[in-house]
Amino acid sequence: MGRRKKILKLLLGVLIGFVASNFNTLTTFSEPPCASSQITPYRLIEEEDARASNKNLIFVGVMTAAKYLDTRAKAVYDTWGREVPGKVMFFSSEFSYSEHVPLVPLAGVDDSYPPQKKSFLMLKYMYEHYIDQYEWFVRADDDVYVRTDKLEELLRSVDSRKPWFIGQTGRGNNEEFGQLSLDNDENFCMGGPGVIMSRETLKSVAPFAEQCLHQLYTTHEDVELGRCVRRFAGISCTWSYEASDSIMQVILYHNQSGEAAFSGDLKQKEVHRAITLHPVKQPHSMYRLHKYLKGLKVQKHLQENLLLHRDIAISMQELGHRISSLDKAQIVPDLPLFPIRRGSPGYLGDTNTLGVPTSLNRYTPHRLEDVLEWEMISKNLYSHRDLNPRRRIGSSLKEGLGDVVREIMELVNSYSKQRGRVIDFKDILYGYWRVNPVYGVDLILDLLLVYRKYRGHKMTVQVRRHAYVQQTFSGIFIREVDYRPNTTQSLVSTESLPVHKQIVNQLFSKITEQLQPIFSYHNSSTETLINFILPLSGRFNIFKRFMNMYEQVCLTDRENTRLFIVLFKNEDSPEDHRLSSELVRGLTTRYPDSPIRVVLSNETFSRGKALQLGVNELSEESLMLFIDVDMVFDKQSLQRIRRNTVLNKQVYFPIVYSLYNPGLLNRSYLGADYSEFTPDIINEQSGFWRQFGFGIVSLYKSDYLSLGGFNLMISGWGYEDVTFFDNAVRSNLKIFRVADPGLIHVFHSVKCDSRLDLSQKSMCLGTKASTLGSVSRLQDIFLKYKDLFR
Ligand SMILES: *[C@@H]1O[C@H](CO)[C@@H](O)[C@H](O)[C@H]1NC(C)=O
Ligand SMILES: *[C@@H]1O[C@H](CO)[C@@H](O)[C@H](O)[C@H]1NC(C)=O
Ligand SMILES: *[C@@H]1O[C@H](CO)[C@@H](O)[C@H](O)[C@H]1NC(C)=O
Ligand SMILES: *[C@@H]1O[C@H](CO)[C@@H](O)[C@H](O)[C@H]1NC(C)=O
Ligand SMILES: *[C@@H]1O[C@H](CO)[C@@H](O)[C@H](O)[C@H]1NC(C)=O
Repeated sequence: MGRRKKILKLLLGVLIGFVASNFNTLTTFSEPPCASSQITPYRLIEEEDARASNKNLIFVGVMTAAKYLDTRAKAVYDTWGREVPGKVMFFSSEFSYSEHVPLVPLAGVDDSYPPQKKSFLMLKYMYEHYIDQYEWFVRADDDVYVRTDKLEELLRSVDSRKPWFIGQTGRGNNEEFGQLSLDNDENFCMGGPGVIMSRETLKSVAPFAEQCLHQLYTTHEDVELGRCVRRFAGISCTWSYEASDSIMQVILYHNQSGEAAFSGDLKQKEVHRAITLHPVKQPHSMYRLHKYLKGLKVQKHLQENLLLHRDIAISMQELGHRISSLDKAQIVPDLPLFPIRRGSPGYLGDTNTLGVPTSLNRYTPHRLEDVLEWEMISKNLYSHRDLNPRRRIGSSLKEGLGDVVREIMELVNSYSKQRGRVIDFKDILYGYWRVNPVYGVDLILDLLLVYRKYRGHKMTVQVRRHAYVQQTFSGIFIREVDYRPNTTQSLVSTESLPVHKQIVNQLFSKITEQLQPIFSYHNSSTETLINFILPLSGRFNIFKRFMNMYEQVCLTDRENTRLFIVLFKNEDSPEDHRLSSELVRGLTTRYPDSPIRVVLSNETFSRGKALQLGVNELSEESLMLFIDVDMVFDKQSLQRIRRNTVLNKQVYFPIVYSLYNPGLLNRSYLGADYSEFTPDIINEQSGFWRQFGFGIVSLYKSDYLSLGGFNLMISGWGYEDVTFFDNAVRSNLKIFRVADPGLIHVFHSVKCDSRLDLSQKSMCLGTKASTLGSVSRLQDIFLKYKDLFR
């Protein structure tokens, strides 16, 4: 019987193979259930055929529904679907239509739930069209992510000639169990994370699909599939593929958090170890997951690259070559080790940096100032770099440590199966770390681990192990982003050149473009216009200083700036209002075309409100700088403001230098000449970086609006800047925060209102004390006038 049947099947296979690649007959070929009325673009099926033409390991059938074709199904096909080592097809209801995925609308099937009919008829379709072309058949949902490379690896290690029914086993939860009509030793493969059948299994089951469909015991599609497989193939869902019992839960990972799954942090060992991940409900999460897993793959390749470079370096050393001169090394005369030069396509990279073997002595200091100190990590961070002797471990370091530990554990456990043991990470007892800008990061970690032997003499013990880790930098990559809106691309047409050349060419064309303004004569009218917004209430003397400085920096040199003074009445000093107005009038007479505007307000003063009034005067594309009357600045800081503020992308929050009380330094800045504020003033005695001040900001108005502006409910000099900074950090905009030596906050005495409540008052006094003077200066004064203090 065997022979004739085989030949028949072979013939049938050839016939089906032929028919399946010809669409016109496809619709009429199948038996009644598979005729479709609306025709999905044949192009997609043709493309999928071409893509899959010489891959024949797996056929994936994705069950979807008409309403998900443009979202979930498209996301699947845009991401892992196109990487299946075989073919992927989408199965939906009778009248479905898609522009995006190769689709089989199953005749007589609707999108109702549970999708039992869809599932069984899909199996039947796979069987009828593809049974001889593929070794494995996967029933997948449209909310599962499959790591196709790992799936291939797994399936190539299993004998596909045997009947297999692989999936995450389910037996129903306690309430359901009695109702699923399962015996104690019976199970099913849960549908969500994907179900895999070998050809043998599908062969035995698919011909009876309709029979199973007519004898349903429950409304669970996967339970019924399991029952059908058990009945006709005589097998259960694999309890475990090998060794550890939980292996299927690990490789076919299902997350319990429903809609929220895979929308948060992906750096988790569950994600790293899984082959399929479920459920991914939102298409954007699917793309995000795809990108993340691609990133892991890139990392893996970089690691391999590094190891190969180390091999090359070691081999060449054996041959007597020095690692520092490998780029010129010749294997034999006239046969260079690297025949391709740097900057050309196919260039192999820098063995003299990448090939250096890991060692904690990779860097040897020769001078005192070259010694690289370590920082200590335990529950807290102990670092010489910081003013705080003990500090919380920042989130970036925490994440970095998490990455390192996860990689260490993956390495340690890579032979777990062979050795019959698993080692789990418990804690970092303590550690040291340092960064060397030349080669990377060194880490010494004292790890608390749990060692579990599950084969042979079983045992569980806690162990401590030291890990010496070196994270090496890889080579340099250049990615260019054109910040200018809608410019025609680079001057040189680079389309036809290889990528490597393109980058180099573009870089040089950009560099020459950008160097122009720096080396040519300064022409301020071509610079971006900066709009200063200055809130003012009283304080005429300080304002005089500010305008004096503004005149010297901006007006005399015709810098491309505008000044908006938002002037509030001040009850305590009504005179100041008049004087300030007069001062401005005087300036505008001297500089008739100088763009200075005064915006008047008779409301009670609030900084947020004042800035908002200034903002109202501007158009959306204006670059604005929020400034205070206590500030002085120089020309370089104007350049930094222009360069560090990018429309739709970046907000500049400079950290300003705050001067101490000049009275203690025998100096007076009041009414002082602008030339006093040279960079020399930045030293330990004169002032400090105002780490916690966020009031001076430079940004475009449209970005200000997208951030929601200031909270106008805060009156007086309040926390509006802190809340604004907070909003900016949470937004999609980049924050550029750096000390700017050209922006100086001149000392003014702080008055702490006696009506403030106790905690506010002590805060105010604290601020007052911290701006008084440096500790050593205060100490000098104290020691000098000890008697007075007594
Ligand atoms: C999986 O679910 C848990 C809790 O339900 C959640 O904390 C975790 O972040 C989820 N993992 C992923 C990768 O979404
Ligand atoms: C810039 O490009 C966008 C989209 O490509 C377009 O909508 C816009 O009109 C363009 N603007 C200019 C000034 O060409
Ligand atoms: C500065 O640039 C503007 C606009 O390009 C031009 O009109 C002006 O002549 C330039 N001034 C100088 C001094 O080069
Ligand atoms: C402010 O001035 C406007 C007119 O200039 C007036 O209508 C308004 O009542 C004034 N508000 C206060 C609080 O004085
Ligand atoms: C401040 O001035 C006094 C007297 O003019 C002088 O004795 C003292 O040394 C000066 N202090 C500093 C820090 O220059």
